[in-house]
Amino acid sequence: MAWEIDARTKFIALVGDPIEHSLTPRIQNAALKHMGVNVRNIAFRVPKGLLREVIKGFKAAGVLGMMVTIPHKEDAFKLSDERDKFAELMGSANLLVFKDGKVIAYSTDGYAASRSLKEVGIDVKGKRIAIVGTGGAGRALAFQFVLDGATRLLLFNRTIERAEKLNAELKRKLGFNAVQVFTHDPDLLRKELRNCDLLVNATSVGMHPNEAEIPVPADALHRNLVVFDIVYNPVQTRLLKEAKRKGCKTIDGVPMLVYTNEKALELCLGVMVTNELVSLMLRTCYSALKHPH
Ligand SMILES: NC(=O)c1ccc[n+]([C@@H]2O[C@H](COP(=O)([O-])OP(=O)(O)OC[C@H]3O[C@@H](n4cnc5c(N)ncnc54)[C@H](OP(=O)(O)O)[C@@H]3O)[C@@H](O)[C@H]2O)c1
Repeated sequence: MAWEIDARTKFIALVGDPIEHSLTPRIQNAALKHMGVNVRNIAFRVPKGLLREVIKGFKAAGVLGMMVTIPHKEDAFKLSDERDKFAELMGSANLLVFKDGKVIAYSTDGYAASRSLKEVGIDVKGKRIAIVGTGGAGRALAFQFVLDGATRLLLFNRTIERAEKLNAELKRKLGFNAVQVFTHDPDLLRKELRNCDLLVNATSVGMHPNEAEIPVPADALHRNLVVFDIVYNPVQTRLLKEAKRKGCKTIDGVPMLVYTNEKALELCLGVMVTNELVSLMLRTCYSALKHPH
């Protein structure tokens, strides 16, 4: 089949603001082409407040589904007819699937982070985990790690109220009490990371173009710490470079991004995505980051 858009082509949309930097269309279109299906992923910049109209229009036009990013994740949840368990827990969604006239919301960041760790042999069960950054992604990670059996969570955030709110939610929704909350302070990180097994950066610190920044002081890292940085641009953040230097096992943010796309394809198309396709998406993503448009 030729890789041309014709009158039968179906679409999966990606909606956010800003959106121009997103790698999702490149990752998904590489996979869709390989699958030989007449479906494309297209990005739309949609300002906050306009999601209701966009959902209505896309649904009417037969769009298969819609991936949703900042600033629409809470609105996507509110505007859906049905939600999966994790979206219900989070009160936000990053994927809407249009099916049988209904809008079904999913939250897949937790799954994607958890799989990123499992694929390299990291089981969070029984672990003490420090999460730096309790924004949208940090929240998803915290809920997921509790569901996956973490023993203790240490939440660090610049705006302490946000971390406190997450702590209260973990207590109320999951009955999880083993949380300590800290402000994002280098000395507190130095002290508290000594007894942690896993450190996750879920802040945007170190992201392009601020690549010289690091969310955790290098001297707080030690070789018994696994370091997962969900920032994927650059792939090797300063945090990951320093962690490697200390002998830590490290995981970059690309697999998490790819597993989010894998789930979206599965749920929008109703097919299983093979390991071969996942590998193709990983290669596409690493290559796109090396050779940006
Ligand atoms: N790999 C993946 O698939 C994936 C998925 C989702 C997100 N991400 C990445 O994860 C990062 C966070 O995304 P998000 O959706 O959670 O964003 P968000 O909801 O806007 O949260 C941003 C977080 O970063 C913190 N932060 C920002 N600037 C900071 C600074 N200068 N010093 C200390 N903390 C700072 C914020 O703290 P305050 O609360 O104090 O503002 C907040 O905790 C982004 O870099 C994003 O690209 C990656």
